[in-house]
Amino acid sequence: MPKPSEAMWGGRFKAAAATRLRDYTESVSYDWQLYRHDIAGSIAHAKMLARISILSPHELDDIIEGLEKIRDEIDRGEFKWSTAREDVHMNIEAELTRRFPAGAKLHTGRSRNDQVATAMRLWLKDQIAENQQAIAGLQSALETWASRDFRVVIPGYTHMQRAQPVLLAHHLLAYVEMLERDYDRLADCAKRADVLPLGSGAIAGSTLPLDRQFVCKLLGFSRVSENSMDAVSDRDFIVEYNAACALLAVHISRLAEDLILWSTAEFHFIRIGDAYTTGSSLMPQKKNPDIAELARGKSGRVIGNLMALLTLLKGLPMTYNRDLQEDKERLFDTADTVQNTLLILAEMLDHVEVDQESCKRASSDPLLLATDLADWLVERGVPFRRAHHLVGAAVALAEQKKVPITQISLRDWKKISPEFDASALEVFSVEKALSARTIAGSPNTRLVKQQLTRWQKILATRKKERE
Ligand code: ARG
Repeated sequence: MPKPSEAMWGGRFKAAAATRLRDYTESVSYDWQLYRHDIAGSIAHAKMLARISILSPHELDDIIEGLEKIRDEIDRGEFKWSTAREDVHMNIEAELTRRFPAGAKLHTGRSRNDQVATAMRLWLKDQIAENQQAIAGLQSALETWASRDFRVVIPGYTHMQRAQPVLLAHHLLAYVEMLERDYDRLADCAKRADVLPLGSGAIAGSTLPLDRQFVCKLLGFSRVSENSMDAVSDRDFIVEYNAACALLAVHISRLAEDLILWSTAEFHFIRIGDAYTTGSSLMPQKKNPDIAELARGKSGRVIGNLMALLTLLKGLPMTYNRDLQEDKERLFDTADTVQNTLLILAEMLDHVEVDQESCKRASSDPLLLATDLADWLVERGVPFRRAHHLVGAAVALAEQKKVPITQISLRDWKKISPEFDASALEVFSVEKALSARTIAGSPNTRLVKQQLTRWQKILATRKKERE
């Protein structure tokens, strides 16, 4: 018979684990990150075991003292992890038991299947709160920038062609709106993570009179799971979280792409501060927007993680299967990637400077107001389709004569259509164009200011709530 210390899995086993098996199956090298939540789960479980008289008050004290000590040692980086003990759960329990014999009672009525699901749900709830804070931070950076350069007008683009003039602030607030949906999706995901699996055992609950509601309250979950088989094999909350993060990463990649384009010599709308750009090892003149490029690129790995998780679950038979251990690295990677990207982008936006001249030059292209001229005709009773056609003809004529549309002679305008007169040219004012857009959601100066105020309030309240 192997000694108990060699045979991890008890009396059933006559040989210690093969080294290759140990290395292949261990997860402690990454799931150690769950230690705080694992220990919180264990302390709650122990308190419940004392409540139903499985642990004596003295045993409970030992267990709590031991777990808290271990937690502090891990905090300080002093705890010795061992791959022979497979995962974070076994490492902590084995070390506790080595120090206090009462540790051998901790796993009563519990399996690692409900234990790991509990630790991950606790971990994710905290993670989501951190991500939400970082999203709000990026929203604030966008709002601050929008306020700083409130008067700046740029061309809005469709098909990457200049379309109509907009306030830069309106463009930036579009991202604030996107990020708000990401914030909401994460809040929604947190609701479904907020369920306690502990008490489900390995698959079929327990014959012991465990008090699940008590544990639920101690750990701050909203409710207990209703089906033990579902509870130990459900990883939907991880998929949902990753899906929400994938969309968030996609939104970030779009913002990053705008910043990259705007910082090119061709656009020249912004300059990113030196401390937030990199140089080229060969070309001395280069100043590269690497942060934005990596932020754009990292969406790939978050999307990849989502695919990996979905594939992991596809066709998996009930209930817990070891495959599920593969969820962790994808989850941690997504959480880290998204969090770091949000933080660095927010910081970088504080160091972006707008080139007012370039923005003015680009947005004073009179063709950006061709639609406004069509609207001018509509107000004079011309059906829109005809108005569209007539203005199009004027654009073509200007192109043919190689002059700006504002320099077509009145005779030529009249030739295109008698409805045109000198006052039509008054349409070609960016200021007028913006103030004429008075309907909700438009880039009108007054409306955008209102939006900025609305966001300032929302973000300030959010900040206060977290303090
Ligand atoms: N390390 C395992 C995981 O992450 C913990 C659960 C192990 N359960 C088991 N029945 N082998 O999934």
